[in-house]
Amino acid sequence: MTDQYGRAIDYMRISVTDRCNLRCQYCMPDGVTLTPHSEILTYEELLRVAAQAVALGVTKFKVTGGEPLVRKGCVDFVGRLKALPGVEQVTMTTNGLLLSKQLEALVAVGLDAVNISLDTVDNEKYCRLTGYHGQALPQLTALLERCVAHGMRTKVNVVLLEENRDELPALAAIAQRLPVDVRFIELMPIGYGASAAGFSPDWALETLQGRWPDLAPVSERRGNGPAHYYASASLLGRIGLIDAVSHTFCVACNRVRLTSTGLLKPCLCYETSTDLKAILRGGGSDAALREALRQAIFAKPRAHCFARREDITEQKGMSQIGG
Ligand code: GTP
Ligand code: 5AD
Ligand code: SF4
Repeated sequence: MTDQYGRAIDYMRISVTDRCNLRCQYCMPDGVTLTPHSEILTYEELLRVAAQAVALGVTKFKVTGGEPLVRKGCVDFVGRLKALPGVEQVTMTTNGLLLSKQLEALVAVGLDAVNISLDTVDNEKYCRLTGYHGQALPQLTALLERCVAHGMRTKVNVVLLEENRDELPALAAIAQRLPVDVRFIELMPIGYGASAAGFSPDWALETLQGRWPDLAPVSERRGNGPAHYYASASLLGRIGLIDAVSHTFCVACNRVRLTSTGLLKPCLCYETSTDLKAILRGGGSDAALREALRQAIFAKPRAHCFARREDITEQKGMSQIGG
């Protein structure tokens, strides 16, 4: 369906959990309060919402978290979501650490693409940034190769942080070795992101063009998200930029978000949401659920307000929203 500004909304992000096996400082640092399990929608409830979203024209779903793979049964959920009549695409955003063991199963149930969050190629820094203890980098490097071998469309998400400013060419070089897109994401002032230090995607692009002078914009679509892409003859994958704060891409917005607690969020930066859990657990019919979705989608705000931080009303963190 289209919203009040005529944008076709065909994509829903579903956060299946607010929990994560990492503690990235800008997303979910140590000490974050977790939602009680009883407040989290069951997979059956999530699928009920998804089916009504499909009835309104949503055909693509992104499964997110927290970290989606920490929730038991996530692979089965992906399969059931993909099997809903009318669903064209199910993709996932993950930190990858639990993906190694579940990749084949996810391929088997029809996962269409995966985005792996990786903010550094230096293992020591990875541990510092994420609270992880161990050799994550060799594991994630091998995982990327396996994703490619399975023909899985794979992207790497890098949030632009002061801590990785010196690593941009090294991170982008993943796209030189493998046909994997590497996307650089401007830090958004949501949740703990508001107190972290990032830097400008324009500066990142200039730096990368210093290393690959033929890096030039391409117009092809490579996902459902707001990234725009650049290609170089020396790179097998594309370089993507997600510049949510410095450049607004809201005129082309195609999405809504469902949090793990059943809130339907029409826009990332506003607290406004529709409590679908109240309908689901209050005995509401599918028609009531669909009508609540329809109203929320129609009323989607025109644009985010990152340029005026005082207008950001969302108090939840990214791990509760699902990115
Ligand atoms: P695909 O390209 O289809 O894989 O989707 P995607 O890039 O939207 O997915 P992903 O979950 O990897 O998100 C990448 C980054 O984009 C995250 O930091 C998200 O928070 C951010 N993002 C995704 N959608 C939006 C949006 O509608 N608005 C804003 N401001 N940021 C978004
Ligand atoms: N700004 C930008 N991206 C963020 N992510 C988490 N928090 C922020 C933030 N404040 C990213 C994660 C993951 C994706 C879902 O969102 O690194 O790749
Ligand atoms: Fe869409 Fe809101 Fe993101 Fe803008 S900030 S692209 S309107 S979800």
